[in-house]
Amino acid sequence: MGQIPSDHSEPSPEPPKPPRRKRYRGTHPTHFDEKYKERSPENYPDIHRHVRAQGRTPAGAHVPIMVAEVLEAMRLKPGDVVADLTLGYGGHAEAILPRIAPGGRLLGFDVDRAQLDLAAERLRAAFPDAAMSFHHGNFAGLDRHLAAEGLDGCDAAFADLGVSSMQIDNPSRGFSYKHDGPLDMRMDGRLTRTAADLLASMSEDDLVSALRSLADESDAARIARAIAGCRDAHPIATTRQLVDLILHLKGLTRRQWAQRDASRRGETHPAARTFQTLRILVNDELGSLRQLLRVAPWCLRPGGHLALLTFHSGEQRIVREAFADGLRCGLYAEASDDPVRPSAGEVRDNPRSASARLHWARRL
Ligand SMILES: C[S@@+](CC[C@H](N)C(=O)[O-])C[C@H]1O[C@@H](n2cnc3c(N)ncnc32)[C@H](O)[C@@H]1O
Repeated sequence: MGQIPSDHSEPSPEPPKPPRRKRYRGTHPTHFDEKYKERSPENYPDIHRHVRAQGRTPAGAHVPIMVAEVLEAMRLKPGDVVADLTLGYGGHAEAILPRIAPGGRLLGFDVDRAQLDLAAERLRAAFPDAAMSFHHGNFAGLDRHLAAEGLDGCDAAFADLGVSSMQIDNPSRGFSYKHDGPLDMRMDGRLTRTAADLLASMSEDDLVSALRSLADESDAARIARAIAGCRDAHPIATTRQLVDLILHLKGLTRRQWAQRDASRRGETHPAARTFQTLRILVNDELGSLRQLLRVAPWCLRPGGHLALLTFHSGEQRIVREAFADGLRCGLYAEASDDPVRPSAGEVRDNPRSASARLHWARRL
């Protein structure tokens, strides 16, 4: 029997209360920790499940897309060497590692140092015995990274293109038209040119053609004219300035747009295509993708698989053409014709998956 406490026993000390979340004051978050309960999981242990049940992504996390389909496309087996070319939060890597054990090896890449370090820490804690190495670098240099590791190639390589939810949700990165922040958009902090620099220096004609070709923006000419017309007197340095300029063009204020409850009606934010264009340009996303597709066949071992998640038509076109060329030249034995789409259930649970398309190819 345990000891019955007497009236004279010392009262047991209260467990220390976790520090209170900083109260968020205002309507636009500038600091993650002030706005989101998800940033204090120690205070709100159930919060991630709760947020996911609402079809949202917890702030500071990323929900991996089409995981089952990606795993199937890569045909993994124990002992495989796999390159996760866009490590992000490490969600796909988490699913890959058990498939290649025992004896497998994971190489993780990301151009974003903060993402890479966070994912590396998470993965090392979850899989302490797995062979893993992490590379702060662009996947366009996959051939050099493999050579530096003394590898003749990999059995599978996977890229989940674009930005992670953590990057989008963090106002200080400047990726989001939803939050005010510096108009930055660099995934790799070593890049020197921000989105604000681009807007200040691109010619009006170049802006028009970029908006059309990279995001199918139907209002490209008007948006480019408005930017060119105001930037000398008022340089566009923040996400909010750019959003307000585009909303003004459409005859809307921020409040009016918010009141339209557009997301429920499936409307795209008027600034979304301009933000996408700038992000692609700042990070030379299509240049990196083209270079990856050039080197990928030489980085895959015979029979190795390449799987790519694309998110817009520009990426899809480049991947389709590269796979068709690879088939013609006998580099690939087979390749996806129509990309695989996410299931209706996944789109409902994670709306950010809606535009994802999975492409795959198998090395001869
Ligand atoms: C969509 S997220 C990946 C999410 C990840 N699959 C997961 O489940 O957590 C894309 C990541 O790729 C990185 N990235 C984008 N382009 C890259 C490139 N050319 N080379 C290496 N990493 C890149 C971004 O910084 C971002 O962290």
